[in-house]
Amino acid sequence: MTQFQGSHILSVNQLDLDSIHTIFSVAERMAPYALREKRTRVLDGAILGNLFFEPSTRTRVSFGCAFNLLGGRVAETVGMASSSLSKGESLYDTARVLSTYSDVIAMRHPDAYSVREFAEGSRVPVINGGDGPNEHPTQALLDLFTIQKELNQGGRGIDGMHIAMVGDLKFGRTVHSLSRLLCMYKNINFTLISPTELAMPDYVIADIENAGHKVTITDQLEGHLDKADILYLTRIQEERFPSQEEANKYRGKFRLNRSIYTQHCKSNTVIMHPLPRDSRAQANELDNDLNSHPNLAIFRQADNGLLIRMALFALTLGVDSQLEKYECAV
Ligand code: CP
Repeated sequence: MTQFQGSHILSVNQLDLDSIHTIFSVAERMAPYALREKRTRVLDGAILGNLFFEPSTRTRVSFGCAFNLLGGRVAETVGMASSSLSKGESLYDTARVLSTYSDVIAMRHPDAYSVREFAEGSRVPVINGGDGPNEHPTQALLDLFTIQKELNQGGRGIDGMHIAMVGDLKFGRTVHSLSRLLCMYKNINFTLISPTELAMPDYVIADIENAGHKVTITDQLEGHLDKADILYLTRIQEERFPSQEEANKYRGKFRLNRSIYTQHCKSNTVIMHPLPRDSRAQANELDNDLNSHPNLAIFRQADNGLLIRMALFALTLGVDSQLEKYECAV
């Protein structure tokens, strides 16, 4: 992908290393605006259609705040019940209509490939905020951005790193998208830790192996963390299971707390999680006793999400070179 302006962002498969570097370099330039040190009105008059047909805290609000911070306004649709999709309207018709009301659309939907189908009817760029168990490209970009920053601080890099992905790797769309982005780097060791029934899909493993990386698959947490530079935890995606009882079979199987971390990980292992973490007692995959640990990067991930989403709006709307021109008083 070399041309962002006017393009949909639907899958990490559209991206190459050059486009990732472009996004990261624009994201770095967004920091003073996100920190309120500077202000720009570069998207004054523009409208974001923020369509979330599945629950979300970070992705929905950070898309909205990112657009606001660039001077634009946000029109929200939250939940299927508040949309005429619930009356049988097609994604195509919905897209044709809503894309005349807005300049760019961010969308989350429970069905795989639904955002792609929606984009076919849209006259404006559509950004995938998560389509069922399939992909979450903006999360993968903010995860990769975070991994790069965290490792660089300690003099490490992405090439040659070890990453352990833990939890529901079958339904966890963030690990699908992140794995594919990491395929673009060199000599990565992937340790994929999940219950056998929730293993990483074969097509993602094939992509990783075909890109020349090493994959270890296990259903045991302890004994497989000692080399990890990045420990990426995920929750059991209960909304993808036929029943709570079925999801409960897997809750609490893998838990990280300070004692397990100290015993089994390197002192510089970075702890990541896309959030939300399931803090209910029967799950608790990432314990609060790690909240003050300096290697816990989960809230830095969320902070970086704002920068990445600001960058994607600036690039898809073609205003990335005009941020400074439209600066105004803070
Ligand atoms: N990481 C993530 O997608 O969080 P939300 O579901 O809260 O948006």
